Amino acid sequence: MDKRPIGIFDSGVGGITVLKEIKNKMPNENIIYIGDTQNFPYGNKSKEEIIKFSIENVNKLLKKDVKIIVIACGTATSQALGVLKEKFDIPIIGIIEPTVKYIKSKNYQKVGVIATEGTIKNGAWERKLKEKIPNIQVINKACPMLATIAEEGKAKSKEGKKVIKEYMKPFKSEKIDKIILGCTHFPIYEQIIRDELGYEVELINTGNTISNELQTYLIENSIENNDKNATINIYLTKKEEQFENIAQNILK
Ligand code: DGL
Repeated sequence: MDKRPIGIFDSGVGGITVLKEIKNKMPNENIIYIGDTQNFPYGNKSKEEIIKFSIENVNKLLKKDVKIIVIACGTATSQALGVLKEKFDIPIIGIIEPTVKYIKSKNYQKVGVIATEGTIKNGAWERKLKEKIPNIQVINKACPMLATIAEEGKAKSKEGKKVIKEYMKPFKSEKIDKIILGCTHFPIYEQIIRDELGYEVELINTGNTISNELQTYLIENSIENNDKNATINIYLTKKEEQFENIAQNILK
């Protein structure tokens, strides 16, 4: 047993979609969350900047004595996970590998991926998918505006619906029915995406896949917690008016 908290970070409120899944699955774990709102959005920043911000986030979490770190951010996973793993001794997991594992276990041969511009340009999703499932067909779509609109609390507005309509075009025309939500802000749009596509679609939530992986890791290494009064502490690097409302909506 290990009472130390799980550390989670993202650029903003998106990672709360991951926190939610972790909390549902492991209610007795203490959690420390950092939303790096000062440097939001990550999606349009250079790899060097993402690495710098990610190192700062990890250092802050280490000061809180966390036992493991979850990168609840597709952009930071795709661009900084390798460097972080080399630099730090603490176990660190990102959202891509657990999701690829899930897709392989389901034997899917064709998937869509939506993510930030930085993540799609970096090509990490397609590369990792093809490493494990060589014949898989991947339809990528960068969605540069989604994280910002969600962070401003406007996901469900006209503006949110309008951009979803545009971004869903390549999937809708081919009736792609499995789409990875490759940015952790995107589960906020789940219903809007379903409404726009209008057919049965599996929207693969990385919070789900990563929380399965995390739970297995904690059990295998005997570092899970059974605290009935476990707490969640959320820190932002810059005050953000909308954050609490959006987080509460996600966490219900
Ligand atoms: N939630 C993040 C991701 O998963 C970052 C979005 C952003 O800051 O641009 O990619």
